[in-house]
Amino acid sequence: MDRSIVVTGGSLGIGRATVEAFLAEGDRVVFTARGEAEAKKFLGERSEDVQKGRLFFLRSDASVANDAEKLAAFTKEKLGGCDVLINNAAVFIGGLLHQNSEEDFEKLFGINVRGPFLTSKAFLPMMLERKKGHIIMIASLAGMGGGYGMTLYCMTKAAVINMARAMALDYMQYGIRVNAVSPSATETAMFLGGNSKETIDAFRGQNPAHVLGKPEDIANALVSIADEKNIYINGQNIAVDGGLSAWNGEYNQSREPGQAYRE
Ligand SMILES: NC(=O)c1ccc[n+]([C@@H]2O[C@H](COP(=O)([O-])OP(=O)(O)OC[C@H]3O[C@@H](n4cnc5c(N)ncnc54)[C@H](OP(=O)(O)O)[C@@H]3O)[C@@H](O)[C@H]2O)c1
Repeated sequence: MDRSIVVTGGSLGIGRATVEAFLAEGDRVVFTARGEAEAKKFLGERSEDVQKGRLFFLRSDASVANDAEKLAAFTKEKLGGCDVLINNAAVFIGGLLHQNSEEDFEKLFGINVRGPFLTSKAFLPMMLERKKGHIIMIASLAGMGGGYGMTLYCMTKAAVINMARAMALDYMQYGIRVNAVSPSATETAMFLGGNSKETIDAFRGQNPAHVLGKPEDIANALVSIADEKNIYINGQNIAVDGGLSAWNGEYNQSREPGQAYRE
């Protein structure tokens, strides 16, 4: 489609799958990360896209204002503007609230909330100029309801869901829509790296789909929502979770073990 797409935190996991999904649509993509190692590996695998001027990487920390401004300028130079900005970069720190430090708070809010604020703020002027654009926050089921052992993370994800709603009201009149997408547990380093096999199996078993999300599941949803045919979807938080958020949380009386619909 030759749109200009920006994905923060695109070197791994959901961000990386998102970069690949938009490349497959024929779009041009800029992605960021703080570290260079994974990004360079990724660029090596997509060298054809790099050579054709379809894929660009900028080392950038979403929580740093100057980095956000540099990213906006870099995007304008390389892609000429931004049709879709995906605020994906985030970190996870768990724990009970009384065990969390102020540093945990600052880090989580610095990246997960200040990041989308600074990045959106840096990109809005060029979107306003063109009267066109779409900003998508990658939130989480953890922002839609309380999650055990992760109060601070839940707080940050709830913040970006409501950020999308409030911004949507202000900017639709300028042709800019804002949405949030909320994955449930997804097979990435963030989830798999931080949990035991028992916990991962329990998450899988509890999902009505009896499988975890794959990064591509989230990326495919993003491609659909980003389609300009769907311009009337605005200010929404769209759960991509196999149906988990449809559950009221009460005990499964049928006691049917259930089975996965795919590997
Ligand atoms: N995985 C899940 O189960 C799950 C569930 C719900 C929601 N989510 C959300 O989905 C998004 C992606 O998560 P993921 O699981 O794909 O995470 P991941 O595997 O940990 O990958 C995170 C990516 O973001 C980058 N990143 C982290 N902090 C950054 C910063 N300050 N500035 C720029 N880039 C940064 C990382 O690279 P560097 O470390 O090199 O910067 C990496 O490329 C996040 O918003 C997460 O909260 C994930």
